[in-house]
Amino acid sequence: MEIIDGRLTAEKIKNNLATEISELKKTTGRIPGLVTILVGENPASQVYVKMKNKACAKIGMHSEQLNLPKEISENELLEIIEKYNRDDNFNGILVQLPLPDHINEDKIIESISKDKDVDGFHPVSVGNLVIGKDTFYPCTPYGIFYLLKEYGIDTKGKHVVVVGRSNIVGKPIANIMLQKKEGANAIVTVCHSAAPDLKLFTRQADILIAAIGRANFITNDMVKDGVVVIDVGINRINDSSSAKGYKIVGDVDFDEVSKKASYITPVPGGVGPMTIAMLLQNTFKAFKRVVK
Ligand code: GUN
Repeated sequence: MEIIDGRLTAEKIKNNLATEISELKKTTGRIPGLVTILVGENPASQVYVKMKNKACAKIGMHSEQLNLPKEISENELLEIIEKYNRDDNFNGILVQLPLPDHINEDKIIESISKDKDVDGFHPVSVGNLVIGKDTFYPCTPYGIFYLLKEYGIDTKGKHVVVVGRSNIVGKPIANIMLQKKEGANAIVTVCHSAAPDLKLFTRQADILIAAIGRANFITNDMVKDGVVVIDVGINRINDSSSAKGYKIVGDVDFDEVSKKASYITPVPGGVGPMTIAMLLQNTFKAFKRVVK
């Protein structure tokens, strides 16, 4: 069994980006820029956004973090986004989700210029992904695709089973793995909580991608020997032995499932760090489109 090390892979990507950014800075005098927009005070979102900005600074990418009050109106937020759509200093615009209930998330996502849609959530980006055209892949699925490639895991003709159907992970990773291209070309099944017996699907997986959002949900009896396991879950559970009183676990019962797996991502240190690396990668891609 081999552990898929997302931290190490993410560091490699960030180091490469840092080099490329410094080289382009010399030749063009410009650096890529990302604005992150946080509305309200969701503690998890605050942590994620802070990590994203720190990662930008570390690789020489310009970033700005806007912290907006939860009472901000939809129109005010739309105006702010429009300002960044027009600002050439910013190549990527990221509005952290979820948004407060009075703001229509779809409307906000659609207002971001498709050329700055580094989250890959705009309907045009999603459509381009489905029909196999060049686009921004959403960051977490892109990270999964990258990890499978990095570890030389054969995907062609393999059965990828995705558990979860979110717009952020389940649906895009299914579409990526289905593509007729290197690193994909898989047979894909998407299943979810409405399945009467999820085991029927998960046991068939050569590659199992768990994006359910429930701690330790995938157990030993749900997988076959030799399975490759990608755990997208980030769940907080009580842990009196830790100083914080909690610990972070994935959607997969790691201790048990790792006994059967050929490869497995840990939580933390698997898919999580890759999400940020791919956000930087997408922002750099948006930048290169305009500086060249
Ligand atoms: N909330 C949870 N994941 C994400 C993400 O990848 N991007 C944004 N913008 N919000 C999120």
